[in-house]
Amino acid sequence: MSQLLSFDVTHTPPVPKTRPGIGIIGCGRIVRNQHLPAYVKHKLNVVGVTDPSADATRAVAEKFGITRAYKDADELLADPAIAIVDVPVHPHIRGPIMRKAIAAGKHVLAQKPLCNDVREAAEIVALAKRAGVKIAVNQNGRWSPPWRTASRLIQQGAIGEVMSVNHLFDLNVSWIVGGPFEKGCENFIIYDYSIHWIDITRVWLAGKTFSRVRAQSWRTPNQPSESVQDWACLIELQCTDGSRHAMNCVGCSQSDVKSHPFWIHGTRGAIRGSVEANDHVELDVGGNVTRFKLNGKWFPDGFAGSMGELICAIEANREPENSGENNLLSLQLTAASLESHRRGGEWVSLDASEITLA
Ligand SMILES: NC(=O)c1ccc[n+]([C@@H]2O[C@H](COP(=O)([O-])OP(=O)(O)OC[C@H]3O[C@@H](n4cnc5c(N)ncnc54)[C@H](O)[C@@H]3O)[C@@H](O)[C@H]2O)c1
Repeated sequence: MSQLLSFDVTHTPPVPKTRPGIGIIGCGRIVRNQHLPAYVKHKLNVVGVTDPSADATRAVAEKFGITRAYKDADELLADPAIAIVDVPVHPHIRGPIMRKAIAAGKHVLAQKPLCNDVREAAEIVALAKRAGVKIAVNQNGRWSPPWRTASRLIQQGAIGEVMSVNHLFDLNVSWIVGGPFEKGCENFIIYDYSIHWIDITRVWLAGKTFSRVRAQSWRTPNQPSESVQDWACLIELQCTDGSRHAMNCVGCSQSDVKSHPFWIHGTRGAIRGSVEANDHVELDVGGNVTRFKLNGKWFPDGFAGSMGELICAIEANREPENSGENNLLSLQLTAASLESHRRGGEWVSLDASEITLA
């Protein structure tokens, strides 16, 4: 037991030494509800904000005590007090904004998915590299306490080599009906929601080679006729050595209890838990089960994780673990899942051309 307890399971957001100025382009729901509450809680330095809606800009600035409300992105990018630009707009408009920010010499934190197109994402990553600025992606789930604890345990070899990852979304997706995600993207459940689960799986399967992907989404019997997005989906990722990921979104649950259980099987043991509802995580090695105490929540603390990691990387002049380059595989796996769905659920190899999220 003492050996189990010797693992470092620190899972709170990284704490930077400095507080570089942050400018936020886009003042929508996720900024109001998660980015800014997280930045305030973790004492990060937001210098200013902008949004094409002057009302949205003003409301966010007033609510969070932000002194600079810029008339547009150009004005924000011209401000030398801003070192990092946070870009939480929808992906089809994110590309041009990120290019401008990089050209202005700013570091960038992009919301997920980084881009709709894997090639465009790779181009932007290369652009940032040439400009000598860092680009990170807001895969904030990596800092959700149960997943972060699991990542720490895996990195320290607690369960040996990871062979299998299973996720379940035990929830009801009715909350998207009538909202922007219904019409704003081709497939909300695969492309917008599942990307966090795909991203964490490839963190846990680090070093393996993904070979193929199979996915499908569908309408559940209890979806109202006016809802246009599929609520349920199944996504499988396979590696060349037989390691695999399976993710099953129930979508139609009528239970009041929501959870996202996960199971990770390794050559020496297993990790079980749930994230984003019913949060917990436990390590099982040879029948010795250790349950870990968790501090914080994915929402909002995970958002301080993504930004904190970017700032720490800037300070140390290293790549952030959530770098744009690192994210290309997550994006590619998500795009391949969507492509598989378009092809009726057939296996799609990762080198398939023309895979986009658009
Ligand atoms: N867990 C997460 O990390 C998480 C959760 C929810 C949403 N998201 C992502 O965040 C992004 C935004 O989602 P949301 O729910 O906040 O959307 P939203 O529609 O509420 O907000 C988008 C904002 O962008 C603004 N905007 C549009 N064009 C702009 C431009 N050219 N320059 C600056 N601002 C512009 C809009 O006016 C709006 O205020 C999406 O990519 C979504 O996938 C991430």
